[in-house]
Amino acid sequence: MAVNNHEVAVECLEVTYRLNRRHLVEKINFQVLQGEVLVLLGRSGSGKTTTMKLINNLLAPTSGEVLVMGKATTEWNPIQLRRKIGYVIQEIGLFPHFTVEQNVGLVPKLEGWERSRIQSRVRQLLELVNLDPQHFAKRYPHQLSGGQRQRVGVARALAADPPLLLMDEPFGALDPITRLELQREFGQLQQQLDKTVIFVTHSIQEAFLLASKIGLMQDGRLVELGSPDDFLKSQHPEALAFIECFQLPGTG
Ligand SMILES: Nc1ncnc2c1ncn2[C@@H]1O[C@H](COP(=O)(O)OP(=O)(O)OP(=O)(O)O)[C@@H](O)[C@H]1O
Ligand SMILES: [Mg+2]
Repeated sequence: MAVNNHEVAVECLEVTYRLNRRHLVEKINFQVLQGEVLVLLGRSGSGKTTTMKLINNLLAPTSGEVLVMGKATTEWNPIQLRRKIGYVIQEIGLFPHFTVEQNVGLVPKLEGWERSRIQSRVRQLLELVNLDPQHFAKRYPHQLSGGQRQRVGVARALAADPPLLLMDEPFGALDPITRLELQREFGQLQQQLDKTVIFVTHSIQEAFLLASKIGLMQDGRLVELGSPDDFLKSQHPEALAFIECFQLPGTG
């Protein structure tokens, strides 16, 4: 079947996740087309990470369903599904006792790639995220700065070339200059690699820099969904609260 650019990569249909009697997310609906960057924006505790875990099948919906490439996450073979997805988790999640090289090459190794192929892939990826392999390949995570660790996290998620990237505040906890640098690099990288990306942040600046679509979450619900332009026109109180934090270039 021919793949066209408007194919739906991820779709949430009335997705609810309940724990005990609490709704962590409730009746979430959205579609992400191939090659799009959906930014999930929301305050702390609004349900962003929970939504990511539902897409990755780390959690199964209490009701509703999440479709990845047209198939419900619960129907995917978990290993096959994870192969389609690169996940950059909120706390970076590098293995401390693995070198940079081993961290980035982990998924290809699990996939049974040959050593030389893994080595050249790791080198290529480190260059892609602007870490000189000569300097960084043999280091351990504790020998890196926070920003360098986050680059390694991104390289690792890209290693087996998955079509879908889930990125949960990958650039959090960085100084603003390094953060902007990484955001710009990532924006370019995304265009170059044409991945479908779901990106979580609580920074409206980051959302505007990267998003083709913004989904605003509040108390476990998706309260707005649209282009960045739509978002600026929103009258939803939570959208207005975020816009207030956003100094538009040229107006400040
Ligand atoms: N395992 C759990 N047990 C109980 N409550 C949980 C659990 N995981 C998350 N929650 C709650 O669910 C809500 C949504 O959490 P979630 O991690 O999705 O928020 P978030 O939007 O990612 O927040 P942050 O920006 O702080 O990372 C929060 O109120 C959180 O306390
Ligand atoms: Mg979170």
